[in-house]
Formats: sequence, C-alpha cells, structure tokens
Amino acid sequence: MRIMVTGGAGFIGSAVCRHLVANGAERVVNVDKLTYAGNLGSLRDIADSPNYVFHHVDICDGGLINFMQAERIDAVMHLAAETHVDRSIDGPEAFVETNVVGTFRLLNAALEYWRGLPPGRRRSFRFHHISTDEVFGDLPFESGVFTEDTPYAPSSPYSASKAASDHFVRAWHETYGLPVVLSNCSNNYGPYHFPEKLIPLTILNALAEKPLLVYGNGANIRDWLYVEDHARALALVVSKGRVGESYNIGGRVERTNLAVVEAICAQLDVRRPRAKGTSFRELITFVTDRPGHDRRYAIDASKIERELGWTPRETFETGLAKTIDWYLENDWWWKPVREQRYAGERLGNSKAIVA
Ligand code: NAD
Ligand code: DAU
Repeated sequence: MRIMVTGGAGFIGSAVCRHLVANGAERVVNVDKLTYAGNLGSLRDIADSPNYVFHHVDICDGGLINFMQAERIDAVMHLAAETHVDRSIDGPEAFVETNVVGTFRLLNAALEYWRGLPPGRRRSFRFHHISTDEVFGDLPFESGVFTEDTPYAPSSPYSASKAASDHFVRAWHETYGLPVVLSNCSNNYGPYHFPEKLIPLTILNALAEKPLLVYGNGANIRDWLYVEDHARALALVVSKGRVGESYNIGGRVERTNLAVVEAICAQLDVRRPRAKGTSFRELITFVTDRPGHDRRYAIDASKIERELGWTPRETFETGLAKTIDWYLENDWWWKPVREQRYAGERLGNSKAIVA
C-alpha cells in the first residue's frame, strides 16, 4: 500500500512510520506540521529509506489533495492532532483548530481525491482515523469497560475535540460513502514519547532530581499499551479492518497513576541509582488534581483480537523496562526537547474551576 500518515513526526505516528517502512509498505508519506510535539529525530532510522518521504504540511491548510494525487495514495492514516489533556485545559483553541477543523479539511481532501479514483482503487481506499478511549469519558473505579458500543461522554477539551472528529469521520462515511475505519486506543507509552506525558515526564524529572507530581491521590487508573503494539494494531486495522467499523485497542493493563510512578522509581533505583543512595520514591509529590480528571479507563479489546488476530506482545513490566532503558540511552533525543521546548513544569492547572 501507498500510505499517507498525518502526524508522523509525533510519538505514535513515528512508530507507525517506522513499522510500515520496515514491514513492506510500498510508500510511506509522512505529512506533519512539526508543532512543539513533532520531531524529525524520531524518524532518523528511516529518513533515508527509499519507501519513505516527509512533507512539512499543516492539515488545516487544505492542500493535501495535491500530495494524495502526486503520491497515488491508497490509504490515509490520520494521527495529526493536539494530544495533551493538560494543554487542552490551558488553551483549548488549538485543539478545536487541528482536531476538529483540521480533520474536517482532511476529510474533504480525501473525499475529493477518492471520488476521482478509478473504481478498483476507489473500492480499496481507506481513511483511518486514529482516536482515543478518552471519548468514552469517566468509568467508575469498581467496574465497567469501554466497548465499541459505549456511548461517547468526553470530559476534557481534548477528548471533546477527538469525539467531534470521530463523529465527522463517521458522517463522511454515512453521508458521502467515504470508506472509513476508526480505532480508539488507551494510553500508549514507549520510546520517543514527548516528556509532558506521565511516564516520560516522571523518568526525566527523576533523573533531574525534580519532584514527581502525582495529581490528586494517585488513584486514577489508566490502561497502558506499548506503542509498538499499537503501531502493529493500526497496520492491521487500516489493511484488514471492516469499512465503517471502529476497533478498540488496549493492553488490559490497568494501573493506578501512583503504581506507575512507583514502578518507574523502582526500576530507576536499580538501573540508575541516586547518588545519595535513597529511592527515587522520595521525590513523589501529591498536587492538586487535574480539573475534570476521569477516574478510570479500561478497554475491552476483544473485537480486534477476534476479527484481526491482534494481541499485544509486551507486558507492562517488559514495556516499561524497554522504555526506561531507551530514555537512559537516548539523551540526544530528549535533552534538546527539555532544553528548548518543555522543561517539565506543571501544566493544566491555570484554568481550574475552584469550587
Ligand atoms: P503527539 O502529540 O506525539 O504527535 C502529534 C503530531 O501531530 C506531531 O508530530 C505534530 O507536529 C502533528 N500535528 C499537530 N497538529 C498538526 C497539524 N495541524 N497538521 C499536521 N500535523 C500536525 O501525538 P501522539 O501521542 O503520537 O498521538 C497521535 C494520535 O493518536 C492522536 O490523534 C491522538 O489523539 C491519538 N491517540 C494517542 C494516544 C496516546 O496515548 N498518546 C492514545 C490513543 C490515541
Ligand atoms: O487514554 C488515551 C490518552 O492518553 C490519549 O488520547 C492522550 O493523547 C494521551 O495524552 C493520554 O492522556 P492522559 O491524560 O491519560 O495522559 P497523561 O500522561 O497526561 O496522564 C496520565 C495520567 O497521569 C492521568 O490520570 C493524569 C496523571 N498525571 C499526569 C501528569 C502529566 C499525573 O498524575 N501527573 C503528571 O505529572
């Protein structure tokens, strides 16, 4: 397949590009605006591959049909987005702009392109929207899982914008017949993760001897998936997923935030002990909660397991060990990010509603 990946310079998008390039894609066309979260360093290993090309493009600009035509694209995998919940609390507008308006512009470009294809290629074309479990909202601590039929109930500006974009994608299928497929995934972690998200932020703040901020009492639960397991799942969804369907993707790895931070501290204590000999746990600091903080996410991944034969390869323990080792060995990637883009300070608290 000749695949256009939007947001391919981001965390998951770069894992998707690396996976596709290494696994026989005829052409991988990465289009990315290179926002603060985009990083061409994440594509260093494939930058010179003959089946890979990068174009510096904003999906909101609407000119993407030209790239689709020039590159004879068979499928679009749409990952470009503003993705950090805390930033969406401080400044929601960019989330509406890229996630909603950008997706709308991209859908229009894809529709016009698809309509111009010969019948065989029109039948096999796919528009794959990569979305999040956060669209389903807040689960109680005690019970419940998200299935593909769970009603949408987003809590944050980020998840509201992703829910809106999911609805637009479905509408372009129902109304105009665009062959779409959607996937909703749980929290990813792994190499090249921008260090504003809990796991890389905790690793790098620990190495810098800074406080490890845990929101509220640390009891909120997320369901973790190693990024390369997600990339493999996405390659299956775009090539074998049924048109008009959505697929939930998750690792069945529910952990409280405090347990995640403690697991990182425990592994760092062994791999990179502190000079003073005490545990990194000493740095854990409980702070005021994230506004609108969903208590728990949990994905039922039976549909993708049953229909597409996907299962994760990493456990949380193996995936976390690989991730920590990667950050310990690759400061060439994260040092400039910490120095020039984001130094690790608290985000998402500036517009909190004080009761
Ligand atoms: P990221 O923030 O690491 O990367 C986003 C990428 O999109 C960046 O390279 C950025 O430059 C690019 N981008 C942003 N605005 C753009 C625009 N207007 N035009 C072109 N490119 C633009 O994100 P991520 O964590 O890799 O997430 C990728 C996708 O997967 C998102 O759609 C996100 O909602 C979804 N998702 C993420 C997770 C997760 O845990 N990270 C889980 C489920 C779903
Ligand atoms: O569930 C999928 C989503 O996972 C994706 O759609 C988002 O793009 C991605 O950012 C992620 O959202 P979260 O809000 O769950 O991820 P984050 O890493 O920001 O936070 C994970 C949990 O840790 C969350 O409950 C908030 C908490 N947290 C986060 C940070 C940054 C802390 O306790 N301390 C922190 O410093």
